[in-house]
Amino acid sequence: MAREQFGICAEPSLHGYYLLFNVLDDKNAHIKQALSRLPALFDKYADRFSEANLTGVVAIGANYWDEIWPQARPQMLRSFEEIKCDDRIAPSVNYDLYVEVRSDRADVNHIVAEKVCSLLSDGVELAEQVRSFRFLDGRDLTGFVDGTENPQGRHRREVALISNEQDADFAAGSYLHIQRYKHNLNLWNTLKVKEQEDVFARTKIDNEEYTSENKLPTSHIKRTNLKDADGNSLEILRQSMPYGDMKLQGLMFVSYCHTPEHYELMLRSMIESDENGHFDHMLKYTQAETGAAFFAPSLNFLALLAE
Ligand code: HEM
Repeated sequence: MAREQFGICAEPSLHGYYLLFNVLDDKNAHIKQALSRLPALFDKYADRFSEANLTGVVAIGANYWDEIWPQARPQMLRSFEEIKCDDRIAPSVNYDLYVEVRSDRADVNHIVAEKVCSLLSDGVELAEQVRSFRFLDGRDLTGFVDGTENPQGRHRREVALISNEQDADFAAGSYLHIQRYKHNLNLWNTLKVKEQEDVFARTKIDNEEYTSENKLPTSHIKRTNLKDADGNSLEILRQSMPYGDMKLQGLMFVSYCHTPEHYELMLRSMIESDENGHFDHMLKYTQAETGAAFFAPSLNFLALLAE
């Protein structure tokens, strides 16, 4: 049975390091070898610093997939299409490779990120790097707890991973979407706490969900809590983390799922006005600066790349 990459369903960490690469022309053979060696590199440092709970994920860009593995493609792998409505925009930025390193030690992440870069070295250009951190008790920099309604326990695997029945060739893989959001915290902090709470439909300090009748149709959880025609919840596994410094702050949004559809529908529901003109009012205070789709294949598939 195929095994998934351990970082996909891992519990939240204290620190994260995200690396986004573009592959240079004619370097596919080198990259295949390097990618197949990354899981062993993660294992080595997870063992060496066992108290740090290190995990890693490597994923291949939707637009790059056919160059690295023209033989077959995950059935639902598709590009991140820009979405725009009025002044709200989710831009699309293509990257060929995504590497996520998470652990409870920033120094260990740094060591591993450096090893990843030197392993890929000659074949890639580092297009973007983001260092993230856990903020207070798992809060976004807006001050609200992020991740409360994430799937828990074994259910994380059901939501995030492709099953054998769904796509046998790519079982234990996951469709990954990322967006780096930049917050306007000066504007956000002009709101009263109750106004901020209305934006999420949750209370700030105690993280209590509003009752249904109190949730505004423009609240973030109203826009993202979607159901299919049979009333089943459309779920994703969010592994987002805050990032930033004194100049720039935001959320590195990361979603894993066994299908790209759930995330795509949620993002549309956030951005596009519905028949009543409602959209996600959180978007008045934050703006996505990047957006990309990847596939995080199983460990078995990564091993195949070396052959
Ligand atoms: C700046 C970007 C974002 C911030 C700060 C943010 C923050 C939050 C917060 C505070 C919650 C409530 C607590 C929780 O259940 O986690 C939440 C819920 C949620 N968010 Fe986001 N979010 C962002 C972007 C997104 C995006 C892009 C999506 C999907 C396209 C998304 C999907 C969800 C979902 C599915 C929930 C759970 C809804 C429910 O069932 O109650 N979020 N988010």
